[in-house]
Amino acid sequence: MNKDSGLKKINGNYKGKDILSLDQFSPKDILSLYKKTQQMKKIALATKPVKNLAGKIVTIIFYEPSSRTFNSFAAAVKQLGGQTLEVHDPKTFSSVSKGETLEDTIRVLEAYSDAIVIRHNEIGTAQKAANAAEFVPIFNAGDGIGEHPTQALLDLMTIYDKHRRLNNLTGIMVGDLLYGRTIHSLIRGLSLFKNNTIYLLSPKELKLSREEYNLFIQRNIKLIEVDRIDDLPKNADFLYWTRVQKERFKDLRVYEKVKNTFILDKNLLDKMGWKNAIIMHPLPRVGEISTDIDEDKRSVYLKSQIRNGMYVRMALLDLILRNK
Ligand code: NCD
Repeated sequence: MNKDSGLKKINGNYKGKDILSLDQFSPKDILSLYKKTQQMKKIALATKPVKNLAGKIVTIIFYEPSSRTFNSFAAAVKQLGGQTLEVHDPKTFSSVSKGETLEDTIRVLEAYSDAIVIRHNEIGTAQKAANAAEFVPIFNAGDGIGEHPTQALLDLMTIYDKHRRLNNLTGIMVGDLLYGRTIHSLIRGLSLFKNNTIYLLSPKELKLSREEYNLFIQRNIKLIEVDRIDDLPKNADFLYWTRVQKERFKDLRVYEKVKNTFILDKNLLDKMGWKNAIIMHPLPRVGEISTDIDEDKRSVYLKSQIRNGMYVRMALLDLILRNK
C-alpha cells in the first residue's frame, strides 16, 4: 500500500502500514511493539480462543523455502483467530509458472485477503509488491540479500528480554555478512539505539558490502571488522552466528571454500568466556553451531528466539490489521 515508493515511517501508528525495512522504525515504535508482544504472549500461552483477527485472511506467499518464518506467521494469524491462504513455491504451483508478473499476482491476492506476507529471492521485491498493492499491507518476510525485518524485530526482542535494554550493547556477528539479510536488518535496528558496538567476523569474501558498511557507519553504531576469532572481545552481550548462504553463490567452489570457516562449539565457548552473552542464530544452521552447545543456558536459538518469532508477528499483525 506504499504508493509513493518511499518507506513509510511507523511514527507511533502501525495501522495499515507495510513492514518492509527496519528503517521505518524509531526506538519508541520498537518498544511499543514489545509491550504489545507481552499481551500476545499471554494469548498464545492461554488456550482460550481470541477474535482479534476474526474475519481476516492473511496470504502468505513464499518464493523461497522456509520453516520458521512461514509457519510462525501462519501460527500467529491463527492464534489471533484469523485465517491464512498459503502459497508455497508459487513458481511451481501458481500462475507465476505461466509467466504472471509479480504485480499481477499481488493484485489478485489482495482481492482475497487483508494482508500479504511475501518472501522472494530478489532484493527489493517486497517494496515492489507494496507499490503494486492498492488495499492491503505487505510484510517483507525476506527479499533476497536485502532485509528480513520481522526476524530483526524478534532478534532485538530476544536481546531485550535478556538484557532489558537495547543500548550500550556489545554484540558479535559472525558468518555471512554479505548475503545474510537478517544481519542487514539487525544492524539497522541496533543503530537506532545509543552506544552499540558490533564486532563483525566473516571470511573476507563475505564481509558487509562496502555500500552497506559506509551507510551504517554514518549511523549511530560502531562497527569493528575483524578477521580472526582471537580478535573478538571476551565480553559480549550477544553472539549472532549465521549460515553461509549457499543459494546466493554463483560459484559453488567459493561456497565450499568458505562454508566452515567459523564454527561455534563448546571448546570455543570455553576458550572465549562470553559468560554474559546469549547465543543467537536465525536458523537454519548447517554446521556452524555445534549441537554440543544446544543445552548451554546461553543458547537461545532453539528456545526463546523461536518462540519470540511468533509473539512478535502476532503483535505486528494485531497492530496493523485489527479493527479497533
Ligand atoms: C533466515 C533467512 O531466511 O534469511 N532464516 C529465517 O528466516 N530464520 C536465515 C537463513 O536462511 O540463513
